Amino acid sequence: MRFDIVTIFPAMFDGPLSSSIIGRAREKGLLEINVHDLRKWTYDKHHVTDDYPYGGGAGMVMKVEPFASAVEELKTQNPGAKVALMTPGGKLFNQRMAQDFSSLPGLIILCGRYEGVDERVSGLFCDMEVSIGDYVLTGGEIPAMVMLDCVARLVPGVVGEEASIVHESHSDSLLEHPHYTRPAEFRDARVPEVLLNGDHKKIEAWRREEAIKKTASVRPDLLAKAVLTEKERVMAGDFMEKARRRDGDERA
Ligand code: ADE
Repeated sequence: MRFDIVTIFPAMFDGPLSSSIIGRAREKGLLEINVHDLRKWTYDKHHVTDDYPYGGGAGMVMKVEPFASAVEELKTQNPGAKVALMTPGGKLFNQRMAQDFSSLPGLIILCGRYEGVDERVSGLFCDMEVSIGDYVLTGGEIPAMVMLDCVARLVPGVVGEEASIVHESHSDSLLEHPHYTRPAEFRDARVPEVLLNGDHKKIEAWRREEAIKKTASVRPDLLAKAVLTEKERVMAGDFMEKARRRDGDERA
């Protein structure tokens, strides 16, 4: 899969995109990631990418023309790519979107900065506006890295063992069960007995119950979308009630 990132701070991407799993996938040719300086598509002496807002107000607004030229050029290189503008006003990114994006031939990711981006960038040149959470960062660069990392690891072959992405948090609207490795005893904390006895049926059942317990107590909102048996729904309800009581006790 090919990613094209358009930013005025290309150096911000150096470390994260050349290390670890993403770095290796690039070396293997599974991912092509190009980071472009938006200034490449400015044609004035000072390579200006922003200007004062029409109507007045604080801060600068990123101009439409450089982004327009960037998208037009990059689309000719990868016509099937979708274009996303990273902005806190966008659609909230989630694992489902990551799965959908991972089957695209490419993503062109535009990073906004300053007070915002001229509305025509999104209106004329983007397929979507994407936010990574209900908080405001200094720009779209870190959100772009978050989204890229999340999408890239779903591209076949990028993560070594495919099984490790089947059971992970959020892929089935449940948080993941806890993990343990050696030693079996650390200070007073023992690894749950069930994991030590090699009974895989029991281990699976324990993991499923722990995933439901964790989700019910930390992210009960996710349970509405989770596929649960009748028995599991009752169990989730009990865990939620316990968590509510515990949180109430903590606040009191
Ligand atoms: N730019 C600034 N904050 C952002 C956010 N939360 N998501 C995407 N882009 C952003």
